[in-house]
Amino acid sequence: MNTLLLPAADPRTPEIAAALIRDGKLVALPTETVYGLGADGLNEEAVAEIFRVKGRPQDNPLILHVTGMAQAERYCHSIPACAYTLAERFWPGPLTMVLPARDCIPKRTTAGLDTVAIRCPETAVTLRIIELAGTPIAAPSANLSGKPSTTTAQHVLADHDGRIPAVVDGGPCRVGVESTIVDLTEDTPRLLRPGGVSREALEAVLGSLQVDRAVLGSIDRDAVVKAPGMKYRHYAPQGKVLIVRGSSQAAARYVHDHFAPGDRVLCFQEELPLYGDCRPLAYGREAEPETLSAGLFAALRELDSPQVRRIFARCPAGNGVGFAVANRLAKAAAFTYVDAEEAP
Ligand code: TXA
Ligand code: MG
Repeated sequence: MNTLLLPAADPRTPEIAAALIRDGKLVALPTETVYGLGADGLNEEAVAEIFRVKGRPQDNPLILHVTGMAQAERYCHSIPACAYTLAERFWPGPLTMVLPARDCIPKRTTAGLDTVAIRCPETAVTLRIIELAGTPIAAPSANLSGKPSTTTAQHVLADHDGRIPAVVDGGPCRVGVESTIVDLTEDTPRLLRPGGVSREALEAVLGSLQVDRAVLGSIDRDAVVKAPGMKYRHYAPQGKVLIVRGSSQAAARYVHDHFAPGDRVLCFQEELPLYGDCRPLAYGREAEPETLSAGLFAALRELDSPQVRRIFARCPAGNGVGFAVANRLAKAAAFTYVDAEEAP
């Protein structure tokens, strides 16, 4: 199969992409968070094709992408008032809400759950494609299952060239990590995945917010978790990722003491001078956490090579979007940390 690369700025792109979606085909789409692997979320066979192409476990449900709350109401019921407030405040944008699903949604999309994850992305071309397709678009992050997410059309081609009909090229994603997921189906809202909308911003609207344990620590494979995707190994390059905690100086000392051939360093731009001979790669500026989220997956992809044995990674403080960056790095590292201040 020849994969079409459709530029977002080409006026023909929305209709070409929408026609493919209506026809049950897969199209990779840009969003402000990461690229998604999209298909008609109401078409079981199209959804099955997403799972096949991505190599995704069947028990991991998909997010439905809609143009707003009016469309969401057709696929969810018993929507609490706070969902409208959140939509008002954060849609279009990097927030996904888990709500009770209506029966019209195929079980394949929700992986058999009676809830559905739903979000309205901000990227104009993708909103237009959803509108023209006339159906909610189911889309997981477009990466092959287990690999770092895709934040450019080139990343999508690296994983899927010749395997999917089309990619819409909207340039690099602004946020760079996936959407925040909040479960609104229980008495207290629960954060299932930190993302582009910060925990603090959600708390300001919701009052109380529980943080799911899958966000904070590693989860047993057989555990029953709210967001099934959270239990799988994720975002992981081939080498072993090790998060080095502590001050810049202590971390650099630790890395120099332990550095071996085949190792790489993933650090903040401000720290580059500390790692001259350790093959550092900066993913953004510590002082501007949005640059870290925007650069993280591209950097993890660059380091995803059989030649890279170990990656010493520096992780930002966990506030704002830094919480989402820290969560993705922790998953890539399978929650492996060393404390440079205390290490020998
Ligand atoms: O930013 C994003 O959310 C991107 C873009 C493409 O929109 N999509 C994305 O999809 O990250 P994916 O499939 O990579 O991650 C979706 C997560 C998974 O962890 C899945 O388990 C969870 O959402 N999820 C989906 N439906 C759910 C539900 N009904 N209840 C709880 N978690 C759900
Ligand atoms: Mg994903």
